Amino acid sequence: PIIKIAFGLTDLEESIAKAYGLSQVIVVPGDTDTSVFTKKELGRAGAAALRKYVAKGDIIAVTGGSTMAQIANNLTISSSMKGNWFVPARGGLGESVDMQANTIASIMAKKTGGKYRLLHVPDHLGEEAYQTLIQDPQIQEVVDAVRSCRIVVHGIGDAMVMARRRKVDADTTRSLQSDGALAEAFGYYFDRQGNVVHKMPTVGLRLEDLQRTEVVIGVAGGKSKGEAIASVLRHGQEDVLVTDEAAAIEIMKHV
Ligand code: BG6
Repeated sequence: PIIKIAFGLTDLEESIAKAYGLSQVIVVPGDTDTSVFTKKELGRAGAAALRKYVAKGDIIAVTGGSTMAQIANNLTISSSMKGNWFVPARGGLGESVDMQANTIASIMAKKTGGKYRLLHVPDHLGEEAYQTLIQDPQIQEVVDAVRSCRIVVHGIGDAMVMARRRKVDADTTRSLQSDGALAEAFGYYFDRQGNVVHKMPTVGLRLEDLQRTEVVIGVAGGKSKGEAIASVLRHGQEDVLVTDEAAAIEIMKHV
């Protein structure tokens, strides 16, 4: 708390919460882009936020990504967390195995004494394959669990960085650019105003499901992600934001 007051982080937290109508904002000092320590701190703060909102018997849907992996690192067994279900928010987004939502969900469950279900969905699904897959009873069962989650914890990325990381094809990349895609979260791409300009064809949580999700926690930091975070906040489904100082300053520039 002393550091927070010295750097005015509490002011940043309050201004962002007010500007975007969030119930809580947590800002850790530093810049994730340049400091490994800050990224770890972001993970620690993300884990603390989850611990605060979780209740017994929860279904918690999580995304993949390196920030979520840091949160997983910081989770430990606690009585409130024990026995809860961790599920991937969406499957088949083209991430490398260590950053996949499935991997993160299973690590989180193991670390907290919880349980998990996985979505075994191949990447780059075509429309036909997608239609077949969603009929599968086992997939349907997991998807139902995912869509009835009470808590979502997700990362936020820069649209072009994520498109490259997921090896999105050239045509889609071009249309993302011409549509002004700035941000990405769980396979949805958003423009500056927070409108969805593209969604990856896969199963799991839909954006409209977030309306009835009680707690949506976004965790992302780094100056380079500031504008992206602002556009996801403008979309208006977040309840809690965990970020760093460098991103927080950018977010306030884009109110
Ligand atoms: C992905 C999530 O796995 O990670 C996205 O599905 C998010 O929601 C992205 O944008 C962020 O990754 P990182 O590594 O920057 O935390």
